[in-house]
Amino acid sequence: MQNKGEHGWYHEALALVLVTGAFYFPGRGTSMIVLSNLSKTYAQQTEDNAALKGVSFEVRPGEIFGLIGKSGAGKTTLLRILAQLETPTSGYVDVNGVRIAGVGKHGGDEVKRQLGIVFQNFDLLMQKTVEQNIAFPLQLRGIEKHERMRRVEELLKLVGLSDKAKAYPAMLSGGQKQRVAIARALASDPSSLLLDEPTSALDSVTTRSILSLLKEISEQRKVTIIIITHEIGVVKSICQRVAVLDEGNVVEIGSVSDVFTRPQSPMTRLLLGAKEVTDFGNPS
Ligand SMILES: Nc1ncnc2c1ncn2[C@@H]1O[C@H](COP(=O)(O)OP(=O)(O)OP(=O)(O)O)[C@@H](O)[C@H]1O
Ligand SMILES: [Mg+2]
Repeated sequence: MQNKGEHGWYHEALALVLVTGAFYFPGRGTSMIVLSNLSKTYAQQTEDNAALKGVSFEVRPGEIFGLIGKSGAGKTTLLRILAQLETPTSGYVDVNGVRIAGVGKHGGDEVKRQLGIVFQNFDLLMQKTVEQNIAFPLQLRGIEKHERMRRVEELLKLVGLSDKAKAYPAMLSGGQKQRVAIARALASDPSSLLLDEPTSALDSVTTRSILSLLKEISEQRKVTIIIITHEIGVVKSICQRVAVLDEGNVVEIGSVSDVFTRPQSPMTRLLLGAKEVTDFGNPS
């Protein structure tokens, strides 16, 4: 009976640790993103030709969400606001209930780390090796070397580049560079992964392998994924829901099957009717 009492104390302490952990890391593994009435008017723009004109939608925890639109629609602007590289003119963004952009912003570094970003041009450090590139965000956070190397090794394995650890970006193909950028974005163990045109510079076979990798990441790590693209094939292939952006407005949003079988807006019809470079079905 005495032992049971000791164990009771232990279990209570353990429960407290778990509850506290859940409080400090509310979205570990996945996250909910809410955009509300988001507008962005750059200095040279008027309200009529603003990059974003009151965009509202939600990305649900764990889903693969596609944001599609033609060139100049405002896709990268939206991603840059999510990445906190640009401030909205009005509206706000909440990630797991924390305001990361807009009036009342109070998101700190912990929230910033919950979003892993892969930019359109990979953005790799050319003077650093593959493993140094992936380790870089961990180094900035002061993670000690042994732990850094352990995580880098795990990420290289995940993206299938263990044999390229010591290579420099210039020695890699486009698809391999994209894999390094994805590994680096995952280094801080984010709850969401945001990718700007992750396949636009790749051939169709490489595109397929990158999409398979993203699907695997979504299933294994339960991260929320937002893919920005102008390729309808990419959305059809791995996204569950999609928003269509046209001249700074969301003109359609819904499940991929609904939106693509019964398109309501002229822009969606135009995108669907445009000659598809790739339509590769499900990559898995
Ligand atoms: N820093 C900036 N200053 C002024 N205008 C900008 C800036 N960045 C983007 N814009 C303008 O805002 C609009 C949206 O640009 P954005 O880069 O978000 O489009 P996009 O959908 O990502 O296009 P693409 O498919 O070509 O990458 C465009 O008209 C663009 O010219
Ligand atoms: Mg863009």
